[in-house]
Amino acid sequence: MKQAIVIFGSTGNLMYKKLIPALDKLIKKEHLDESSKIYCIARKDFSLKDYIADAKKQVTEEVNWEKLVTFLEYIVFDVNDINDYLLLKNKIKADGYTDLSIYLAVPPNLFPIIAKGVSESKLISKGESEKRIVFEKPFGENLNSAKKINRELWKYFDEKQIYRIDHYLGKEMIQNILVVRFANVVFNHIWNNSTISSVSILSKEKEGVMSRGGYYDKIGALKDMLQSHLLQMASLIAMDKPTSLDSEAIKDEKVKVLKDMIFSEKDLIVGQYKGYLEAEKVAKDSNTETFVYAKAYIENDTWKGVPFHFLSGKKLDEKLSEIIIHFKDDSALKAYFPSATKHQNKLIIRVAPKEGVQFQLNVKEPGLGEQTIPASLDYCHSCDALKNNPESYEKLLLELLNKNRTLFTRWDEIETTWNLVDELKSKDKKVHQYETYQDMIKIIKSKGVDFYDF
Ligand code: BG6
Repeated sequence: MKQAIVIFGSTGNLMYKKLIPALDKLIKKEHLDESSKIYCIARKDFSLKDYIADAKKQVTEEVNWEKLVTFLEYIVFDVNDINDYLLLKNKIKADGYTDLSIYLAVPPNLFPIIAKGVSESKLISKGESEKRIVFEKPFGENLNSAKKINRELWKYFDEKQIYRIDHYLGKEMIQNILVVRFANVVFNHIWNNSTISSVSILSKEKEGVMSRGGYYDKIGALKDMLQSHLLQMASLIAMDKPTSLDSEAIKDEKVKVLKDMIFSEKDLIVGQYKGYLEAEKVAKDSNTETFVYAKAYIENDTWKGVPFHFLSGKKLDEKLSEIIIHFKDDSALKAYFPSATKHQNKLIIRVAPKEGVQFQLNVKEPGLGEQTIPASLDYCHSCDALKNNPESYEKLLLELLNKNRTLFTRWDEIETTWNLVDELKSKDKKVHQYETYQDMIKIIKSKGVDFYDF
């Protein structure tokens, strides 16, 4: 279908690192019609030629520029000037587009300004079903600012026209959580506190803040990762079976479980990597956390007593995102197989860098011995995809073009997660300095936190 995509923040990091490669792939796979157009909006006084030259310097993935350029138009824009919105609207109309997505790849303080311009110029009017507006994370900087932004947005648009991004929802294995849970009868009766002893949700990164110090220093790991990606993963793991796989039914269940979640204040541990203060645009005396460990419980019949461990940090030993479901020891088992209880059953959902599912079980050691040893059933999702695995932004852009809202967050998900994180943020915690991942693990263990090795 003939579609127009308008991207505010087109000279930014997100555009160069994620959106351009994703758009290139969608074009290659013919998900974007030849007659579609991508209007790249930014402040810089560039011609399309200058823009492409700048983009080529920054985009690291291989892109078919020759083809992509035929879709692009660069527009110099002042987000505070209503005339620029009116000009854009007239241009899109003259170019013959009625199906329109406006993507705000900009910091949240610009959301209300741009949303207002978009609405006042009637680029998008409330209720127009062919037109939608997309907001990158973070949606606000705390509950209050998020509410303020949202109130403004609801003045201008219907909730159905608003797409809030959490790019983890576009990842293959995050989409796979519901399939693993609900398409496999073996998990039906064991997905609860009678069988599961704990859940660990982690996202470790090797990189530091790189050039994003200006943004990150105001935000920190709790808001950057826990409020969004980690809590989204937790809600998919812990939600009850929805009445259908309809977007609203899934979100209803996610919100229910998030509302029952309570963080244990004493088990919050934060850290900052050594060298962070030297990063560009970071305050020299910054106390911003680049590492967080937090523990929560879900106060409902299914999960009562099961700790959910969350861990995320920058400048750690490896890039790794995964969810580990630890199953309980069975005391009866010990009588039969004493060594089996050393190795608990575990289900690991690997999100990145390798994607897949692994189940750890006990087997007899090979040979004449009688010991039980751990073995794993390993499914490698990325191997089966034969390099055809979509990147999360590719999937999210496709869903946006198809007006499918399941992989975007609803306002009450944002509200509930900010509530949880604001509460944690209000606790004045010592920020530990760390050089390595093990430094933080030692601190966590020294506080007596009862979690299994991550
Ligand atoms: C972003 C955060 O949302 O997610 C970044 O702002 C973080 O700080 C990134 O590095 C991690 O995403 P991924 O897909 O690389 O795990």
